[in-house]
Amino acid sequence: MISINPTNVYPFLSDQLIGQQQVRVSSAHDVLTSGTGPGNDFIGWLNPADVAPVELINDIVATAAHLHTLADKLVVVGIGGSYLGTRAVVDALSSNPDSVAYAGQNVSASYHSRLLNDLDGQDYVVNVVSKSGTTTEPAVAFRVILDHLNTKYPAGVSDRVVATTDKHRGALRQLATQNGYKTFPIEDSIGGRYSVLSPVGLLPIAFAGVDIHALVKGASDMYALCNEDDISKNPVLWYVATRNLLMQKGINIEVLASFEPRLHYLLEWWKQLFGESEGKNGIGLFPASVEYTTDLHSMGQYMQDGRRIVMETFLRVVDGEADVLVPDGNPIDELAYLVGRGLTDVNEAAWKATATAHANGGVPNLTLNIPKLDAYHLGGLIYFFERACGISGYLMGVNPFDQPGVEDYKRGMFSLLGKPGASQSDDNRPEAKHIQFG
Ligand code: PA5
Repeated sequence: MISINPTNVYPFLSDQLIGQQQVRVSSAHDVLTSGTGPGNDFIGWLNPADVAPVELINDIVATAAHLHTLADKLVVVGIGGSYLGTRAVVDALSSNPDSVAYAGQNVSASYHSRLLNDLDGQDYVVNVVSKSGTTTEPAVAFRVILDHLNTKYPAGVSDRVVATTDKHRGALRQLATQNGYKTFPIEDSIGGRYSVLSPVGLLPIAFAGVDIHALVKGASDMYALCNEDDISKNPVLWYVATRNLLMQKGINIEVLASFEPRLHYLLEWWKQLFGESEGKNGIGLFPASVEYTTDLHSMGQYMQDGRRIVMETFLRVVDGEADVLVPDGNPIDELAYLVGRGLTDVNEAAWKATATAHANGGVPNLTLNIPKLDAYHLGGLIYFFERACGISGYLMGVNPFDQPGVEDYKRGMFSLLGKPGASQSDDNRPEAKHIQFG
């Protein structure tokens, strides 16, 4: 499972002070697990084995296998929590991440026109994912994709579409029933950003060839570990207490840093999880991300030397895949000292040196060690962050399961687009002319 290296926290917070948070984090933990806090009807994700029992996983694996008899490309239509977790796991673990394409995670015409061009030349199947069934971006994209699908397969497309949506309600549920699509349910008690280990993520992840039994097992084992209430034995409580103390000391931003490009979308998923859960009532740590060593040559300067309002959480994969050795070559590049050593060694040195340098520069940082980047450990890591986020929201005094702030732009957009029934904008500011330069 995950271990935490706290070395670069201790210059900023003592072990004793972190331990003294036991009562506070325990009580926030209790609020979550006893279902007594605001948003308590959205804790259906708490036990991964309940969310994805073996029979459901088997059904998902069989459905993915059936879809593969029709096509080797799956288009996932979804946004936010109905998109990011899937992409995080597929990109991190699949040996063929391009077997999954994505639509409806934006409304860019150029993005979708290029996607349709790609799909012209190949067979594909579709998994449309929307809990509400009414989110504009995926609903629009699904129309576009369905139109393309109907033209491409005039004999019928119902066996090419799987809908993952609310059990009973919503436009997508109705469409699925009318058109005879296979469906998987999203439970009422599981919000989008906590849903990757439900059918929302599991079907496309299985299609991409990832072992979803192992993914859920990793999450379940982390769940068991998280039920421990002693801060010195439960890594989630330790993480929550530490970032909360740092926030109280004036830290505004948590940067999640990875040295593994395959984790790019895990960082994106994490930002949604914490951003939507904590960012309300004027509080919360702003979640940001960097990818090293690439970003050491851009954001590294700010991390080392900019405003001291940042903490950093490193994701360190301990056992990488096959290594690439530095070959012998012309000594003119002065790399003789690296000959025969692996890039893994170089990356490891980069992590250690960065963590130390940033601490010396005034950035408290901790490292989450992930023993191996496989389905089991990624399942554990995902659950680690979900559990931490639920507890952390309660510790900060917010509801970690709602997202009232994301409705404001929707009202304005519907009003501008003339959606029937949409309220007219009450924004009376006169629109300024665009300033034309040059
Ligand atoms: O976390 C959330 O709840 C949101 O990001 C939703 O997942 C996102 O808005 C998509 O919603 P839906 O699945 O209803 O289309």
